[in-house]
Amino acid sequence: MTKSQVGSPQERPSAVTIRAPAKINLILRILDRRSDGYHNLWSIMQTVGLEDELFIRLAPPTGGIRLTCNAETLAVDQSNLVYKAASAVLDRMQQSVGLDIELRKRIPMGAGLGGGSSDAAATILGLNHLLQVGWSRDQMAEVGQPLGSDVPFFLFSPSAVVAGRGEAVKPMTIEGRRWVLLIKPGFGVETKWAYQELAAMREAVRPLSAGHAELDQRKVIRWPQLATLAENDFEAPVFARHGILREIKQTLRAQGAEFALLSGSGATVFGLFHEEAAARRAQTQFERDKQLQVFVVSTCSGPLAVSLGATV
Ligand code: C5P
Repeated sequence: MTKSQVGSPQERPSAVTIRAPAKINLILRILDRRSDGYHNLWSIMQTVGLEDELFIRLAPPTGGIRLTCNAETLAVDQSNLVYKAASAVLDRMQQSVGLDIELRKRIPMGAGLGGGSSDAAATILGLNHLLQVGWSRDQMAEVGQPLGSDVPFFLFSPSAVVAGRGEAVKPMTIEGRRWVLLIKPGFGVETKWAYQELAAMREAVRPLSAGHAELDQRKVIRWPQLATLAENDFEAPVFARHGILREIKQTLRAQGAEFALLSGSGATVFGLFHEEAAARRAQTQFERDKQLQVFVVSTCSGPLAVSLGATV
């Protein structure tokens, strides 16, 4: 397969493959509630090498959109974010094409890892290429934003400051690479519930700290700076309900993680390690508990990319 980045001129392919990475929130502050019911947030997000895979093939127009998926618990009908993203692109293009889409899930669901949003972003990116739409990343983000708050980020990944409802994305560089140990318990956390709990338990919205405001202006950040500024507002309400997640965080720190944090609204807790060997040693500790899904991956250094052809 040949690989190409967004926007490079190619002959019209008949199929594309896109890898859709998970994300972690290195910082996540939830600010005021807006008049549309959503919250303004401020986050530093980073993609990591735990990936779903999407194969999209052109098919006869009569077939419409046909989606298949290896995860039995995930509906493949019009409620699926991949289906919604493909519909949104076709509606705007007014193109009469059929699509066969195969989604291979690896990213756990209800995990705070942005898997559904990443799949939606990958679908838009893949179709932009397959159908030679010629949208910029901003235009793709605009199409994806109504589908989920994290969709725009993935179109500007691997690292970005994200604000507003999630639509204000400023790409930046985090120098160097880290190993990430992801621990997903046997349950998920519903994002809407986490927002409600947070709103119910806090008395006032804390403004952005001076340290975070300073990071907001930076184009390049170093990992040690993040270690001192990492925090997630969802930890208070989510840890209050699921004490096991606080214990996982403490164990990650005890195992030598530079820092450990809940990702998104959970339920995944991750630890950041300088060395792969240290992350693998910690992994073996957690793998004794069969309730947990455990992954060691590295932080991504490049954007979402489209490969021509389908690997299946
Ligand atoms: O957009 P997404 O599907 O990720 O949002 C799930 C839910 O989380 C929303 O219905 C909303 O209740 C809440 N949310 C919010 N503010 C945001 C993002 C999500 O209140 N910025």
